[in-house]
Amino acid sequence: MKKILITGGAGYIGSHTAVALVDAGFEPVIIDNFSNSDKSVLSGLKHILGKDLSYYEGDCNDSTLLNKVFSENDFQGVIHFAAFKAVGESTQLPLKYYSNNIDSLLILLETMAAHGVKDLVFSSSCTVYGQPDVLPVSEDTPRQEAESPYGNTKKICEDILRDYIKSGVNSRIISLRYFNPVGAHPSGEIGELPLGVPNNLVPFITQTAMGIREKLTVFGNDYNTADGSCVRDYIHVMDLADAHVKALAYLSQQKDNFYDLFNVGTGNGNTVLEVIQTFEKISQLALNYHIGPRRPGDIEKVWASTEKIQKVLGWKPKYSLEDSIRDSWNWQQKLGEKV
Ligand code: UFG
Repeated sequence: MKKILITGGAGYIGSHTAVALVDAGFEPVIIDNFSNSDKSVLSGLKHILGKDLSYYEGDCNDSTLLNKVFSENDFQGVIHFAAFKAVGESTQLPLKYYSNNIDSLLILLETMAAHGVKDLVFSSSCTVYGQPDVLPVSEDTPRQEAESPYGNTKKICEDILRDYIKSGVNSRIISLRYFNPVGAHPSGEIGELPLGVPNNLVPFITQTAMGIREKLTVFGNDYNTADGSCVRDYIHVMDLADAHVKALAYLSQQKDNFYDLFNVGTGNGNTVLEVIQTFEKISQLALNYHIGPRRPGDIEKVWASTEKIQKVLGWKPKYSLEDSIRDSWNWQQKLGEKV
């Protein structure tokens, strides 16, 4: 069976991608240091898949460990999720972000080369676009100066991959620029597990409805959007997971020395207030929220052009915003009041 290494495979997007890979006939192998994930994810995966997945516990910037993992497995490819991702923390601890996110990519590339593994899918982010002048934002849109060290690590990693391929190596690499991942596996066995107070909108909504948080603050209602709150492109995590499977399949058909990048979003923008209304409709609950000041560094509006990924990878989203919110709420209800 075709083995795929998933770095950060116990995380939110990694764990859902593990399910999508098994469904597509791959055998995922996880490496995770559990710094921002929980081992309970592995039992959630077992419930869904009916079997244990192999995993290694440790850092993927530990070159000795990574070499051992590659020696013990014959990988067809790698999906590199493992990275720190808290925007706010990255402004306080930039070196932590630069060293972890960049070193792990460099060490991974070296290890892949040493073991003759060519195919890599890299987790990038729509953060590289900043506030685009034209919407929807396409892959040709010039990137902007990053708003945070976290965002800058994504830009730098994209540049590393581009330059690496330019140097003539035989690797084949795709960067996927994620928009806003939401939702959970429809079984409710795995989902987003933020440690501590969530930064992101949807877990904050579901935790507020569950009584874990007192109230949600909507960060600003004076933006130039339909109802004044910010607009994002919310994509179901299973659709996002599927994009990785399509990216791997596409890579396997390319000639050596290949690099490309794709947006992964739905192509639709929704405001914060629309997300709240959708949640209230699905859950039949009134959410405790109020309008607060803008959050520094927030982008007013961004949503993806999905033309390229639809045309080239043959991928398109299957889930609606309602589906995403339903699955997030189902997951939160299964979790109960655990944080
Ligand atoms: N929001 C609120 N209240 C909250 C949390 C969020 O109103 O308590 C709003 C934000 O202001 C924003 C929207 O909900 O308008 C979405 O916010 P998230 O924090 O969920 O997502 P962001 O789009 O800000 O951040 C995401 C990723 C980051 C990435 C960023 C860049 O989480 O990793 O996109 O595009 F850097």
